[in-house]
Amino acid sequence: MAKNDRANFGSKLGVILASAGSAVGLGNIWRFPYETGNHGGAAFILIYLGCILLLGLPIMIAEFLIGRRSRANTARAYQKLAPGTHWRWVGRMGVLAGFLILSYYAVVAGWTLEYIFEAATNGFAGKTSGEFISSFQQFSSSPWRPVVWLVAFLLITHFIIVKGVEKGIEKSSKIMMPTLFIIILILVVCSVTLPGAGAGIEFLLKPDFRNVFLSAMGQAFFSLSLGMGCLCTYASYFSKETNLTKTAFSVGIIDTFVAILAGFIIFPAAFSVGIQPDSGPSLIFITLPNVFQQAFSGVPILAYIFSVMFYALLAMAALTSTISLHEVVTAYLHEEFNLSRGKAARLVTGGCVFLGIFCSLSLGVMKGFTVFGLGMFDLFDFVTAKIMLPLGGLCISLFTGWYLDKKIVWSEITNDGSLKVPVYKLIIFILKYIAPIAISLIFINELGLIKL
Ligand code: PFF
Repeated sequence: MAKNDRANFGSKLGVILASAGSAVGLGNIWRFPYETGNHGGAAFILIYLGCILLLGLPIMIAEFLIGRRSRANTARAYQKLAPGTHWRWVGRMGVLAGFLILSYYAVVAGWTLEYIFEAATNGFAGKTSGEFISSFQQFSSSPWRPVVWLVAFLLITHFIIVKGVEKGIEKSSKIMMPTLFIIILILVVCSVTLPGAGAGIEFLLKPDFRNVFLSAMGQAFFSLSLGMGCLCTYASYFSKETNLTKTAFSVGIIDTFVAILAGFIIFPAAFSVGIQPDSGPSLIFITLPNVFQQAFSGVPILAYIFSVMFYALLAMAALTSTISLHEVVTAYLHEEFNLSRGKAARLVTGGCVFLGIFCSLSLGVMKGFTVFGLGMFDLFDFVTAKIMLPLGGLCISLFTGWYLDKKIVWSEITNDGSLKVPVYKLIIFILKYIAPIAISLIFINELGLIKL
């Protein structure tokens, strides 16, 4: 593919926004709260933060340097830096992970469209929390409605990928991300002041350590878009001047902040209206409409405006992530199989619609069809977030820490010696020893291979 076909990040802000756009998405506002709720609250968050700092940031820097050095899609990146070796499978596994994630992620992204529609047609007004729960259950298990939204969301993603309106996305991100952030802050204030919110705050702050490591590590990789070559692909468009370490820190901080704030909206609100914190993927879709209704009960117009805006922004945040997922697979098919960009994109969209329909149906009419006790939606989530992404991260840290010529690593991280990076040695130490050992131990322990 000619380099100009893809996004080309002109400014520093563009680089950060595009990477943060990929990172900030449903993973922060939908997945993080429900995983926290399923795994004991504060303990999960503490380990999650540890994973971001110790594993996420160094591995993000490694992905950046692989991408910028090779200036190629993720599969070719390894071929270029390690010709004739099996490292290319790391890139290929990433492409497969991207395809699988997009298939079930688009299902939830489609739900946000339904909720924009519901909010805009005043469908939340006057509903009780019980009604929010049952209407979500009815909607998500219906055989056709979520499928229509899923297809719509994938078509929007497809359209943007084919038309390449990166400029539009970059520009709109500059308005959209700060607005989403402000609305999130307002909602935090509303949520923590609801009656009975204290129990939710306590849940967020009081640790209870159980089997949380694998889930927290998976969430860190998922949320940072790490381990599948997404940021490696984006870094192939970075300029020589981009400071990789600083960019990684900025993306990590923005992403973590949004996730923690989302926790401070969801849990106080959930406890306030008596919704179980371990309600799983439905959690934000049943608690948030309640927050809007209760917090602005005296001023229905505010409830209306906030709910429409919130779901619209959530859909946009999901869109910048689905675009990055789609781009990884499209770029791979386009470059490696000599397909036109349009054809490659059609294959990806078609494949994801196909798998996405099964993921959506697995929450309703196909509930009985399970593999290892998991329906297709849960299976895709488990295999990608908890296995493929951390495994990708393990390979990336081994590749950068042990295989890649240290001169290349040094010249990419310091921009040929022009930047002072005081944490350089620490980054290398983590990539060489800490990350591979920590990820392996978590795998060994939590997949039940050996109980430590
Ligand atoms: N990081 C995105 C989110 O938190 O919603 C999801 C994601 C995007 C995962 C891109 C992986 C990826 F490569």
